[in-house]
Amino acid sequence: AAMSGDTLARERRELRQQEAQEKAAKEAASVDLSSQWNDPMAQQKQFSSQLRSSRPTQATQTDMPEWKKISTGRDASFGKRSDMSIKDQRSSLPIFAFRKQLLEAVSKHQILIVISDTGSGKTTQMTQYLAEAGYANSDENGNIRMIGCTQPRRVAAMSVAKRVAEEVGGRLGEEVGYTIRFENCTSPQTRIKYMTDGILLRELLLDKDASQYSVIMLDEAHERTIATDVLFSLLKKTLKKRPDLKLIVTSATLDADKFSEYFDQCPIFKIPGRTFPVETLFSREPEADYLEAALLTVMQIHLTEPPGDCLVFLTGKEEIDSSCEILSERMKALGPNVPELLILPIYGALPSEVATRIFEPAPNGARKVVIATNIAETSLTIDGIFYVIDPGFVKQSSYDSKLGMDRLQITPISQAQANQRKGRAGRTGPGKCFRLYTEAAFQNEMLPTSIPEIQRQHLSNTVLMLKAMGINDLLHFDFMDPPPTNTMLTALEELYCLGALDDEGLLTRLGRQMADFPMDPSLSKALIYSVELQCSDEVLTIVSMISGATNIFHRPRDKQEQADKRRQKFNDPSGDHITLLNVYNGWIKAGSQKSWAIDNFIVPKNLERVKSVRDQLAETMKRHRLRLVSCGRDTIAVRRSLCSGFFRNSARKDPSSEGSGGYKTLVEGTPVFLHPSSALFGKPAEHIIYQSLVETSKEYMHQVSQIEPKWLVEAAPTFFKVAPTDRLSKRKKAERIQPLHNKFAGEDDWRLSAQKRQGRG
Ligand code: CDP
Ligand code: MG
Repeated sequence: AAMSGDTLARERRELRQQEAQEKAAKEAASVDLSSQWNDPMAQQKQFSSQLRSSRPTQATQTDMPEWKKISTGRDASFGKRSDMSIKDQRSSLPIFAFRKQLLEAVSKHQILIVISDTGSGKTTQMTQYLAEAGYANSDENGNIRMIGCTQPRRVAAMSVAKRVAEEVGGRLGEEVGYTIRFENCTSPQTRIKYMTDGILLRELLLDKDASQYSVIMLDEAHERTIATDVLFSLLKKTLKKRPDLKLIVTSATLDADKFSEYFDQCPIFKIPGRTFPVETLFSREPEADYLEAALLTVMQIHLTEPPGDCLVFLTGKEEIDSSCEILSERMKALGPNVPELLILPIYGALPSEVATRIFEPAPNGARKVVIATNIAETSLTIDGIFYVIDPGFVKQSSYDSKLGMDRLQITPISQAQANQRKGRAGRTGPGKCFRLYTEAAFQNEMLPTSIPEIQRQHLSNTVLMLKAMGINDLLHFDFMDPPPTNTMLTALEELYCLGALDDEGLLTRLGRQMADFPMDPSLSKALIYSVELQCSDEVLTIVSMISGATNIFHRPRDKQEQADKRRQKFNDPSGDHITLLNVYNGWIKAGSQKSWAIDNFIVPKNLERVKSVRDQLAETMKRHRLRLVSCGRDTIAVRRSLCSGFFRNSARKDPSSEGSGGYKTLVEGTPVFLHPSSALFGKPAEHIIYQSLVETSKEYMHQVSQIEPKWLVEAAPTFFKVAPTDRLSKRKKAERIQPLHNKFAGEDDWRLSAQKRQGRG
């Protein structure tokens, strides 16, 4: 207060000057930092010409010393913990300081929500803390009590279990194990069990009380998969019945309040993260080709930025595999003077040995680039990432009411996801995130958070499971976010047509059997129906081929023609399903030899997996007294069985686009196409069914077989009817088949339509 007016004015002036200086410095710095980025076109052009040329250009060579000079600036071993003991590693995680408090909170409360940044140690440490505190000891009656931890993704369940087994010091499958669909790696000794959320859901089908578990951790709950959402509600009920059971719900984002509210205002435990600032760089213009932009950015980072590994988010296997190939070709083209770039893919279907390589630190002087699907967004934490490249897309399946099925589509991510991705660059030190979209797109085109799966996907599988658990009033089921009523009705109607539900929406005996098979109801229906048609041996093989491997044929880039030729040997004139059967039988006939598989461009591991899936499904069939009968070469029965599950996926040749393998679906008349790899390509049959649709450049059908339309009527009389011949046009007469799928259109109450149907019947 003693300051004179003069001093004040002077001070203000000085402050303003200082501010201006700082501002100028900042501006200079930011121009400096992002100059390459802010002019991506010029830079990228320069880079792409460099990278595409087979010889290293002048520019590359002059870049080199610069890179080397900077590289000494940051200790190369920074952020790598390969020389740390497991004990040190465990105690260096942010969660470690909260061990005692966490255990106290768990013992005091039945439900606890835990939030923290990814990489804090929730998934790998909490289970161990609980086991160390005695939660996995047998109870006073000697009954097993396990700590269960769910993951939305299979790869995460496997890799985390492997890591924790290492930390505990045992073999995987002993004290620490995992279970994913068709793969059980646990034993009677298992005390910490990682599993997919779908597996726990299946377990609850047999044991609603989850009696083997003392604690269940619903991990990665922010992912909001259908299975996790359903588990929320089922476990909420179980907890009321079992006061000794504990539930921990973990999340990496900000849904904690919503979760807490849903779980009767349970406490939220926050673990402060240890994160470094991440600089965000947006594209100035929308990218025409995000894949190419991503690859160029990787090379740009590799050649100009200080050490630190890269993480690139792409949408799927094909994209990732081809990017890896292109990148390594471009690296090769740059010659031996460029520092090594270790290129590692990671996606759900990758074999686990390959998948674990992403966690290994890159050798000194080399840089690692991990090209991942969304899996690296939160479920997997890779150390040493300093650069994130985010094209802003994700492959998501969502229900397409026109097709009456889920469809995989590439869609923009949400703002929450974008921020999560960005955060991956700031775990080991200050990082950079290259967003291959504009700031305006981020602000205006991205949703704040993603829509939960349950609100956008096909629900017949889930509805069947709930019905099998005796939950009949689905419209009043305690969902955190209820699915749209229409989706629910479609699922009920579909299950009715499959014969899994009766007129009143109650589970039939067939439906109960179907629910016991861990797969889509259409597949289980086809399998069960094949027993009646005396071809269950063959249909079991086909169903196992479809469920056991996403892609049975291997088509390496440099041997495509050869691979295709081999593949054609298996082709059956009736289509792809019997072709799959031929492949499996060929392998069995050859004594399940590895070399046979390799000769025929099939990954041997995939066939072994199919065999194991087949054995497991055969077990389930045995439990239900479903006999295995072979039809020999009479494959008509096989295709008739498939119709009983896939009648919705039927299509008729479209004369107007016959040359390009064009069809129109019977249900909606949507144009769909034969894929060039189909056994029917070039020899299209009049009527066909298909297994699924995959949208790439066109709407392609996968696994297509020829059928007779009367098989559809026979398989799903409530869905199709044969049109009376006297009231039909000539064209219709030729078809003589009409889908009735939309007979309930406009109804918004399932009970009402069920009553109507009864009245009609
Ligand atoms: O669950 P959260 O994201 O909080 O962390 P976490 O998955 O338990 O990861 C903790 C640390 O374990 C990570 O920083 C990784 O260094 C390490 N980890 C690993 O090395 N291998 C894995 N498969 C999983 C985690
Ligand atoms: Mg985790």
